[in-house]
Amino acid sequence: MIADLVITGGTVVTDSAQFRAAIAIKDGAILAIGDDAAMPEARERLDASGKYLLPGAIDAHVHFREPGYTHKETWETGTASAAMGGVTTVFEMPNTKPPTGTVDALNLKLKAAEAAYVDFGIYGLLAEDNLDQLEALIEGGVAAFKCFMGNTFANLPAPPSGAILEGFEIVARHGYRVSLHAENASIMARRQIKLREAGRTDPLAHLAARPPVVAVEAVSRAAILAEWTGARIHILHVSSGDELRPLREAKARGVDITAETCPHYLLLDEHAYTEKGSLIRVNPPVREKAHQDQLWKGVADGTIDMIATDHAPHTAEEKHNDDIWCADCGFTGVETQMPLMLTQVQAGRMTLNDYVRMTSTAPAKAFGLFPRKGALIPGADADIVVVDLGREETVDSGVLKSKGSSTPFDKTTVKGVPIHTLVRGRFVMRDRALVTEAKGHGRNIRRVQQMPLPTPRNVDQTTAAIIAFRPGAA
Ligand code: NCD
Ligand code: ZN
Repeated sequence: MIADLVITGGTVVTDSAQFRAAIAIKDGAILAIGDDAAMPEARERLDASGKYLLPGAIDAHVHFREPGYTHKETWETGTASAAMGGVTTVFEMPNTKPPTGTVDALNLKLKAAEAAYVDFGIYGLLAEDNLDQLEALIEGGVAAFKCFMGNTFANLPAPPSGAILEGFEIVARHGYRVSLHAENASIMARRQIKLREAGRTDPLAHLAARPPVVAVEAVSRAAILAEWTGARIHILHVSSGDELRPLREAKARGVDITAETCPHYLLLDEHAYTEKGSLIRVNPPVREKAHQDQLWKGVADGTIDMIATDHAPHTAEEKHNDDIWCADCGFTGVETQMPLMLTQVQAGRMTLNDYVRMTSTAPAKAFGLFPRKGALIPGADADIVVVDLGREETVDSGVLKSKGSSTPFDKTTVKGVPIHTLVRGRFVMRDRALVTEAKGHGRNIRRVQQMPLPTPRNVDQTTAAIIAFRPGAA
């Protein structure tokens, strides 16, 4: 058999092992992993001597803005940025215009995503007014659901707990995961009004409006509703040490709950508000150093399962404002996660295996893609990133492919950079350059994992029982 590509001389890294081996690729999948001499003939060979071969990153949290806000980002620019960042699969968020809450809106998004360089899953919206659409969205090809418990960009209304519970019941029957923007809308809205009335417009007022209780309340409530219904949930952008306790407790109770944090919560602290000004405004906020230390502990002990980016691009004009309440929240991230975190790996803060687990294997497992994705094994998709751990670069927002490329990490020195990115065996980045012919190569992912449906808990006691309930009946 003749392979399409054989990558020789590199060190293969998985979530549990690291070894010198070659990888042979055929028809988009890994054909063989083994000694250089044992590889089949190939149409092309790539020498990766001195480099590391990692499963491509799977970023469970990106906003590509199309349709609706294409001056901020498009599928083409967002996935180009992903390709340059060693990210081979993204999960894209529904706060577009229209929001991805109906099958028509999903089809608009799938059309826009035809420009993708990398593979993608699409989040369907779970909101109060579209509970009757959730099953049609599953049928239409969403990968998971997203529920905004608190207000953020696009101001989609936070569903009340009753609607979240009913949404969880529906989704639980299908085993799809619901990802939550876990911030309590009412607590922060009231604080924001008071801060504004008091004349606060400085960057730190944003942090003051969203104390950890905002997140702790929402994480705890989401976990209770998930426990009651048997729904699988994922807590997006964990920002505070306080969220770790409800996460640990829910995991201990057997709730199928996963959690992510993002590079900005691990690497920045309250000084960023004076150093970066309104650029640092993001939901939830970057917090004080003590939270950052706790988050690293949560990474080390497995309470936090994944690192995602919350790639949330806005234009420079939208980011910079002397009135913090008028600066858009969020910033670009999908292209810088890997170099930033590989720098931390080399500083000894986590092992390379931990890094692979948190950026690839864990998201693949949580969202039902494993072992087609998130693994370097024969038969898996050849989603591979070739990394040069010795290479130093300086983050330059001017060269990022993202349209809204303002980043708090501009001018940060990093060590460890993706050199080549392959999506199903095809180069989408080669020698640090985007392979423009690969535009449109990305595909909507299919869930493959044999995930037994969770045991529905208490479903009969809730919605179904309300309908059936007859006072006095036995
Ligand atoms: C995100 C955006 O801009 O879409 N903004 C943010 O501050 N994180 C929305 C979100 O994930 O909350
Ligand atoms: Zn969010």
